[in-house]
Amino acid sequence: MAETHFGFKQVDESEKAEKVAGVFHSVAQKYDVMNDLMSGGLHRIWKHFTIAQSGIREGSKVLDIAAGTGDLTKAFARKAGRTGEVWHTDINSSMLQVGRDRLLDEGLVVPSLLCDAEKLPFPDNYFDCVSVAFGLRNMTHKDVALSEMCRVLKPGGRLLVLEFSKVWAPLKMPYDFYSFKLLPKIGKLVAGDEESYQYLAESIRMHPDQETLKGMMQEAGFGVVNYHNLTGGVVALHKGFKV
Ligand SMILES: C[S@@+](CC[C@H](N)C(=O)[O-])C[C@H]1O[C@@H](n2cnc3c(N)ncnc32)[C@H](O)[C@@H]1O
Repeated sequence: MAETHFGFKQVDESEKAEKVAGVFHSVAQKYDVMNDLMSGGLHRIWKHFTIAQSGIREGSKVLDIAAGTGDLTKAFARKAGRTGEVWHTDINSSMLQVGRDRLLDEGLVVPSLLCDAEKLPFPDNYFDCVSVAFGLRNMTHKDVALSEMCRVLKPGGRLLVLEFSKVWAPLKMPYDFYSFKLLPKIGKLVAGDEESYQYLAESIRMHPDQETLKGMMQEAGFGVVNYHNLTGGVVALHKGFKV
């Protein structure tokens, strides 16, 4: 049986999705408040930058993968307007439900769909833009998911991958202290869940760095790939264009 990592632990590939599901069922209700708290609100700036780089306009067809509580979906739906088509999708029913309720509360009626990024139920060459924010890190077969994202994009369409990445070396020590010593404690205090936030810190360290992810996107079929480091590489936005 093939093995993969779940944070710093080695697990059987067949177990990873279930363990990731456990994390997100546990954190769903407190996900938004924890995001603001953990990042000091920075995740809003990272997402704002992503939206600005999306190229979405009135009428665009957009797929938000691992969309969770729907921050990007919401902004994309407003940009694509009434003639656009924006999908809010996630593999986790708890996260999808919180997101769907939030979208409806804000007067946005978009389809919410439970689906796995590794098996997208959409036709080839369909979307103008596909996004995945803080989701790729959790996927068992990232290569398969990236190929699926490329498949459903139209030629000329773009993939946006917003994800934690490798920090600028001088930031490493304080960042490690924050991630491993403080973050799980904040998780315990606010969300009553220390383990999930320990997993978050570990999964970030196991995720491919900027150049490796760029190579993986090229391997998956993206003809042009570039990236922007945000907050000293704490996060990077990779853009891949299907040619
Ligand atoms: C950290 S949350 C990100 C939510 C949202 N995109 C954001 O930026 O706030 C990661 C999400 O990835 C989802 N996810 C993990 N594996 C997935 C998969 N194979 N396919 C689709 N979604 C997945 C989880 O269920 C979770 O909702």
